[in-house]
Amino acid sequence: MSFITVRDIFQSYDRRPIIERVNIEADEGEFVSIVGASGCGKSTFLRLLLAQERPTRGEIRIDGADPAKEPGLDRGIVFQKYSVFPHMTVRENIVAGESLRSGWGRFFGEAAKAARARADETLTRIGLDHVADNYPATLSGGMQQRLAIGQALTAKPRVLLLDEPFGALDPGTRLSMHDFLQDLRRETGMTVFMVTHDLEEAFKLGDRVLVFDKPRWDPHDPNAYGATVTYDFDARDGGIPFQTLKEDTHVLAPT
Ligand SMILES: Nc1ncnc2c1ncn2[C@@H]1O[C@H](COP(=O)(O)OP(=O)(O)OP(=O)(O)O)[C@@H](O)[C@H]1O
Ligand SMILES: [Mg+2]
Repeated sequence: MSFITVRDIFQSYDRRPIIERVNIEADEGEFVSIVGASGCGKSTFLRLLLAQERPTRGEIRIDGADPAKEPGLDRGIVFQKYSVFPHMTVRENIVAGESLRSGWGRFFGEAAKAARARADETLTRIGLDHVADNYPATLSGGMQQRLAIGQALTAKPRVLLLDEPFGALDPGTRLSMHDFLQDLRRETGMTVFMVTHDLEEAFKLGDRVLVFDKPRWDPHDPNAYGATVTYDFDARDGGIPFQTLKEDTHVLAPT
């Protein structure tokens, strides 16, 4: 059985279908990129994987279990917008990430000391140990995004969910974040789902690239149907089948 199984998932809001009939199998350690037009339900899908929401229909299994019934410790998420706390230092942000996830509230005494030591380990790993006592506002965009990833990593999740994590970064910083993510993945063997609008990034980092699109399309009522996985590309050779994408999908064209 696959590590992650998504079976016949539907999600609607106020009876408006957003995603329909989504079926995905992923092995542990796989890196799955997700692309698709704005508003087609990519972030919604990540929230379902995180079990922040329950699907209208269908089921999700992570390592054989219902993620909604498991504590959130095995999944970490980096949201579309920066998700660090501006009023806390870099180190406090990492500690807070851990305490929020473990549901302990705040750490005290020895527990707090141990949590700070773990935070410093994470900071070294993400290359932010030299700014541990600074506030996020003093960091560059790339450093803030590394901090957000660090926050998600402190709980040592088996699944990392990334929602357009590098969208706001300049091209050079983006490339160094790719190296960072690839190293991290080699080190931890994590399973990763990453939503991106950048096809090149999707194929470079992913083992697979899933395209979310609406196979059924009513020009008079664009919201009548939901999106599903219309392509599942093998991306391990890093090549981009641009031709195929351009000919067959309408949603990837700029809107
Ligand atoms: N909690 C909610 N209640 C009602 N509608 C919602 C909710 N969450 C998302 N939607 C709607 O569902 C649709 C899909 O949203 P979603 O954020 O998943 O798209 P997306 O593919 O991530 O888009 P983008 O690329 O712009 O981030 C949108 O039309 C959005 O308005
Ligand atoms: Mg989104």
